[in-house]
Amino acid sequence: MKAIEIRNKYLKFFEKNGHKIIPSAPLIPENDSSVLFTTAGMQPLIMYLLGEKHPEGKRLTDFQKCLRTNDIDEVGDNRHLTYFEMLGNWSLGDYFKEESIKMSYDFLTKELQIPSEKISVTCFAGDEDCPRDETTANCWKKAGIPKERIYYYGKEDNWWIAGETGPCGPDTEMFYDTGKEACGPNCQPSCNCGKYVEIWNNVFMEFYRNNDGTYSKLKQHNVDTGMGLERITFLLEGKSDPFETELFKPVMDELKKLSKKDIIESRRIATEHLRASIMIAADGEKPSNIDRGYILRRLIRRMTRHMNKLEIDLNELTNLIELNINSLNELYPYLNDKKEQIKKIITEEKDKFIKTLSRGEKEFNKVIAKIKSEGKDTIDSKSIFKLYETYGFPPEVTKDLATENEMKVNMDEIQQLFKEHQNKSRAGSEQKFKGGLASSGEMETKYHTATHLLNAALKITVNKDCHQRGSNITSERMRFDFSCDHKLTPEEKKATEELVNKWIKEDLIVTNTEMKKEDAIKSGAECMFIERYPDIVKVYSIGDVSKEICGGPHVTRTSELGEFKIKKEEASSAGVRRIKAVLI
Ligand code: ALA
Repeated sequence: MKAIEIRNKYLKFFEKNGHKIIPSAPLIPENDSSVLFTTAGMQPLIMYLLGEKHPEGKRLTDFQKCLRTNDIDEVGDNRHLTYFEMLGNWSLGDYFKEESIKMSYDFLTKELQIPSEKISVTCFAGDEDCPRDETTANCWKKAGIPKERIYYYGKEDNWWIAGETGPCGPDTEMFYDTGKEACGPNCQPSCNCGKYVEIWNNVFMEFYRNNDGTYSKLKQHNVDTGMGLERITFLLEGKSDPFETELFKPVMDELKKLSKKDIIESRRIATEHLRASIMIAADGEKPSNIDRGYILRRLIRRMTRHMNKLEIDLNELTNLIELNINSLNELYPYLNDKKEQIKKIITEEKDKFIKTLSRGEKEFNKVIAKIKSEGKDTIDSKSIFKLYETYGFPPEVTKDLATENEMKVNMDEIQQLFKEHQNKSRAGSEQKFKGGLASSGEMETKYHTATHLLNAALKITVNKDCHQRGSNITSERMRFDFSCDHKLTPEEKKATEELVNKWIKEDLIVTNTEMKKEDAIKSGAECMFIERYPDIVKVYSIGDVSKEICGGPHVTRTSELGEFKIKKEEASSAGVRRIKAVLI
């Protein structure tokens, strides 16, 4: 069964079972600055899992474009991917364990026709935070899985959370028995020998993990499920891995044809990274040195390097992109319209990287000449790190070149340096959320204050239930997303603009104080994702018209803003409107 058929069957099945099909959110989160990419189907739904009403109801289903970069270095084996598609279904305070398990079992055995004997499941074994999940095990027995194929594991395997804090809970995972020989008498789903492949994860989200590591009960019990499309496809097609399916094979085969060397790992890396880069570029990201732009850069560079390793003429890249987009056409037809944009982004970055490589090589030669002249045979890690930081020269390349020059490198030491570097940049990203605006020039600061005024104005001019859902600021303009069930009328737009300008003219004073998060909420301060803020927060007040939890920075008086003008008002996603505005 092809991937597109599996996806369609999935959505139809859940639609038949009362779920509304919602569109895939972009790979680049719109209303959530705490993650770089959407990593699971639940991510765009967090606020609804926390209790907000979803405009489409309590039962939802979709396919979601996802990207996970934690395993980027593992790509090249037969199963790791960075980009993947997750099929999901959700109960937002509606059905719970029994119905969820029954639907999963029916979908697997009836719709996909997987023989029941091939399915094993795992349940949460219980600990001090949450009891052993016998309910789930009993639901499986009732559905048709005998107790011999039900396993219990602890939090490391059967508890799901997106990051450090957030909605979470025990989960139950379904495994497909590939029929491979067991690796030993203790072979079971948790082992990595390849006999069992995880196909679906149902999370029973009843808890919230707080900053201090404690758990609170959520307002409602939810079900959040995720099935990896690439995995289920290769299993149902009887292939040994996703690279053998129609999703990757055309590019894999073409690479084989074009290459002078036969290195399957490099073909997989190039194929996988090319697809991920296409998906990211299609959603509007460009290569850069920070955050998600850096991930895209890294993917393109790695792909280029492996194409080099395969000794493929890099001018073939344009054709490979074309081929890849064609092979993804059934799943993502919209890529076709963005073909030129995608080609431009990827090939330009490839060209830049080729230059980097040649510059880096020159620098590398200087470094080794110096080391040799000192009579040493090992390149010190600091030089390697500098080659990386200054010339973007990847350490793996340095290592290859070192070997060619009969020099040694200490990879352990380098990895340590990189870990420190990563920790620093991770801390930077976290800081970004807690601290408010990442880049805060004069104009950005003004726009930031304007978002607070707009947030307050909409509650008066449109509806008191308009809440901020996201914002995006550059030095040129602001974008503001808010919950609202209708397109603003011209009168509403005008009244909003006028009210913001009235407050600007009144020259209101902007102040801030620090207080406990609970006290801030009690005092009526607005906030977007209360759970994501630290225990002590900053509260910004603008006269007595606005009060918001926020990291700042802001102007000190509203008259500094000039004139506020709404340029556009449009739909952002279901139940969310977007205003684009400027200060002139
Ligand atoms: N959110 C769950 C996962 O990603 C379903 O596995």
